Amino acid sequence: MMIFYFTGTGNSLYVAKELEGDVRSIPQVLHQKDLSFTAEKIGIVCPIYGHEMPRMVKEFIEKAEFRTPYFYMVLTYGANHGGAAQIADAFVQKAGKRADYVTTVEMVDNFLPVFDMEKQMAMDKQVEKQLERVKADIAACKKEIQKATMKDKMVHKAFRASMARMKKAPEAIWADYVVTDECVGCGICTRVCPAGCIQLEEQKAVHSEKNCQACYACIQACPKKAILFKEGLAKEPNPNARYRNEHVTLTELVEANDQTGLC
Ligand SMILES: Cc1cc2nc3c(=O)[nH]c(=O)nc-3n(C[C@H](O)[C@H](O)[C@H](O)COP(=O)(O)O)c2cc1C
Ligand code: SF4
Ligand code: SF4
Repeated sequence: MMIFYFTGTGNSLYVAKELEGDVRSIPQVLHQKDLSFTAEKIGIVCPIYGHEMPRMVKEFIEKAEFRTPYFYMVLTYGANHGGAAQIADAFVQKAGKRADYVTTVEMVDNFLPVFDMEKQMAMDKQVEKQLERVKADIAACKKEIQKATMKDKMVHKAFRASMARMKKAPEAIWADYVVTDECVGCGICTRVCPAGCIQLEEQKAVHSEKNCQACYACIQACPKKAILFKEGLAKEPNPNARYRNEHVTLTELVEANDQTGLC
């Protein structure tokens, strides 16, 4: 089984590892010339941002060719998926492909502008139980696209309306950062970034919005908590709390995402 994943803080990598297969990072695979893949089962595991897959995952789905009798997607989320499975399925269809199974797994919500990571980590979201269900479904080649409830649809509609009022790409709103004088130029943020949009200039991190996925890998992994949101975005409930999935090491995140060529 081939499993492609995208991750900012490790939740999706943890799920991908648990599904036990040939696990491959989408930010790295996208550099390949040949994006056709053959396996008896092929899956994608990724977070959702504003109920949708990250831009890079969408790009991968559009470009790749999946030669498989069973194609599935597992979407990790934190608080409200807004019908993400049906939204992702619609995207896959638009890209001329077909998904057999799309589901969601609730985990720590790493959306820093709204959630306190300490409180999120203290919550028991029954991840292992959810994973047992997903593993059994995939083992049985279950065919099901998780349905959006009426509440999911209303939440998604309200979210779309609020985004439309902002007149900016969601990533530009979510990832509007400032790097403070606390930065010591360690370069960790540059190496966990899946899109290569942080550079060190005179030993200080500089963020470029171009291609930023708003994954928060940089801000969450910074040991000095030196990357903060600019004013305009909601004030963080706890700027001292940062998150990485407990089953994923910093080295694994770097291997997954590093675009500096140092890996
Ligand atoms: C910019 C951004 C937007 C997000 N939007 C949603 C959302 O709409 N609904 C939700 O439940 N979780 C949302 N989340 C939370 C993530 O989907 C969730 O924490 C996910 O498991 C993170 O996966 P990762 O650790 O693999 O990066 C968002 C996170 C970020 C950074
Ligand atoms: S991880 Fe933090 S301290 Fe290190 S270079 Fe990036 S912003 Fe600076
Ligand atoms: S700059 Fe930060 S938020 Fe943007 S893609 Fe890179 S790691 Fe993710």
